[in-house]
Amino acid sequence: MELYPDPESKTLRKALSKDLGVGDRFITMGNGSSELLDLLFKAYLSKGDVVLSFDPSFSMYEIYAKIYEANFIKVPSREDYFLDMDEMIDRLDLNPKIILLCTPNNPTGYQIPKQDMLRLLRKTNALVIVDEAYMEFSNTGESMMDEIETYENLVVLRTFSKAYGLAGARLGYMISNDQVTEVIKKVRSPYHVNALSQRLGLIALSKKETIFQSVEKIKKARAFFKEALEKLGFVVYPSEGNFLFVSTVIKDLGERLKEKGVLIRAFKINQNMFYRITIRKQIDMALCLAKIKEIIDENE
Ligand SMILES: Cc1ncc(COP(=O)(O)O)c(C=O)c1O
Repeated sequence: MELYPDPESKTLRKALSKDLGVGDRFITMGNGSSELLDLLFKAYLSKGDVVLSFDPSFSMYEIYAKIYEANFIKVPSREDYFLDMDEMIDRLDLNPKIILLCTPNNPTGYQIPKQDMLRLLRKTNALVIVDEAYMEFSNTGESMMDEIETYENLVVLRTFSKAYGLAGARLGYMISNDQVTEVIKKVRSPYHVNALSQRLGLIALSKKETIFQSVEKIKKARAFFKEALEKLGFVVYPSEGNFLFVSTVIKDLGERLKEKGVLIRAFKINQNMFYRITIRKQIDMALCLAKIKEIIDENE
């Protein structure tokens, strides 16, 4: 480790290229996909430029847009948290510089149909960033990666933080055409992805089969937990992520579960409470369910 890391992450990009079936020249590594998001904003945005994103979506988008003093505009989801691409297309007359699409969406888990994203791409020259941080948990795995050579303004973001469980290593990647790749090269610092993380990424890829057994377990646990919550009267929105987005008549569910040692994330949207519950192994979800049942019993 006495040497500086490879600034191009060549070995890791080659391994990823093989794994994804995408040429390595289309892949750029980052210090987490967050860094790539930041670099894209840094390179493409000037003060006052319009950035469009569905609402709700990943909260960091707005934070990064504010750093670069962009005009961050939220496009509301439908009441059932379906992300309506017609609504997004209607906003194109605002002349956006960047459009963010998170699929599966954090926090709702909604997966945007590929046809909808293609429809948008055919109508805009804005940079369309498709954040696929949770794509490995999706049942269809319908990625936009294979559209990179068709649409010059398309960028796909991926990460080792979720399915590979390597959030602490800060390792993400971007799939983009040469034009975007060159722009990002100009604004990134040379040793942004450290040697240990590059090595960890290689090890993770070599153990992908074993690691993805856990992903399959999480998908099964998600289906089990969804059904169980629905039986308890929860509204559970369709999710392709490693979490479920739910609403319930149980008051203060987040606080009550916290008292019992279970942490879930609460969201207040239009005065209504929603919760994002991360899916772990089935045994953990059974425990979470038992705690929810305890709360229901205590209320009676
Ligand atoms: C939708 C989404 N995109 C990107 C990220 C950031 O990932 P990374 O750890 O690769 O920076 C997250 C992390 O929570 C996320 O939820």
